[in-house]
Amino acid sequence: MDLTTTYMGLKLKNPIIAGASPLTASIESIKKLESAGVAAVVLHSIFEEQINHETHELDHFLFKGSEDYAEALGFFPEVTLSNLESEHYLEEIIELKKSVNIPIIASLNGVSKGGWIEYAKKLEEAGVDAIELNITYIPTDINLDARDLEQMYIDALETVKENVNIPIAVKMNAIFSAPANMAKRFSDAGAQGLVLFDRPVHVDIDLENLNSLQVINPSTSKDLSETLRWSAILYKKLDVSLCASTGVNTHEDILKAMMSGADAVQMVTSLIQNGPNHIESVLKNLVEWMEEKEYISIEQMKGSISLHHTSNPAAYQRANYMRILTDYRF
Ligand SMILES: Cc1cc2nc3c(=O)[nH]c(=O)nc-3n(C[C@H](O)[C@H](O)[C@H](O)COP(=O)(O)O)c2cc1C
Repeated sequence: MDLTTTYMGLKLKNPIIAGASPLTASIESIKKLESAGVAAVVLHSIFEEQINHETHELDHFLFKGSEDYAEALGFFPEVTLSNLESEHYLEEIIELKKSVNIPIIASLNGVSKGGWIEYAKKLEEAGVDAIELNITYIPTDINLDARDLEQMYIDALETVKENVNIPIAVKMNAIFSAPANMAKRFSDAGAQGLVLFDRPVHVDIDLENLNSLQVINPSTSKDLSETLRWSAILYKKLDVSLCASTGVNTHEDILKAMMSGADAVQMVTSLIQNGPNHIESVLKNLVEWMEEKEYISIEQMKGSISLHHTSNPAAYQRANYMRILTDYRF
């Protein structure tokens, strides 16, 4: 069975990428993922604030006056890839590249045009095969216009792009007013890959301590819906690779992602819950399903049920929406 695929020009032996998480924050853990069959990894993010704190160049251009910022600094996850002290982190990447054969995608997580962009160059020099940008900004300022915010995303991408030659993916969030247009703008600004989608840390309220909380909410296959929708809509519309992320937990989710038009998938929750060996069983089930249905390759199924090809385009659009809601019986 030919499971190979190409993501941003990177040849992958199968579509499974381990997404940014604590699982991709140590060389030992990444080696286990490789042994279990993963095709590539996205390293745990290095955050703009961490880089800039070290260089004392914190760029506040979006945060000026924000009361939330100091608090937000308290929310960094604890990670082990040298606790992301940036110089040490680069040394570990060099070591990692010697230890594994799969492509390594670094993850830069930030919002401004500050010193973290310089760091992209250093990541390239350290030998990463690509960079994934996670530009997540929560616009709490009611005067911040959507166009300005979107332009900030594009500016950050363009600035990184100007500084490196390796492929860049943007890990998008699904809450833009016009995700397809944002995807086009990212593509026009030079992104070779789009990760659909980031999963925001959830907000909750602690009723004992009467305080607000940020919590990680593990995904299930039911969370795949928006990823399928936008992958299906974007397939063949842009010259970018698409990577399905959020809710890809089983071999069936991978099949659906490929059929909607994705070139690869990222898995996190299911690997944290089941361990790296989950990849082996997912790949086994994937091959069994494909053999049973007489597929010979992953390429063959890519985009086969996208908006471009489907016999039921309404499923991806508004058309069916009223009927589904009004026909529902309980
Ligand atoms: C514990 C944990 C840590 C994560 N750390 C990062 C990170 O450093 N950078 C990032 O872009 N995404 C991070 N994510 C988000 C994942 O990469 C992924 O986008 C999200 O979990 C959705 O995929 P899933 O449904 O397979 O879990 C993290 C997720 C979890 C659960």
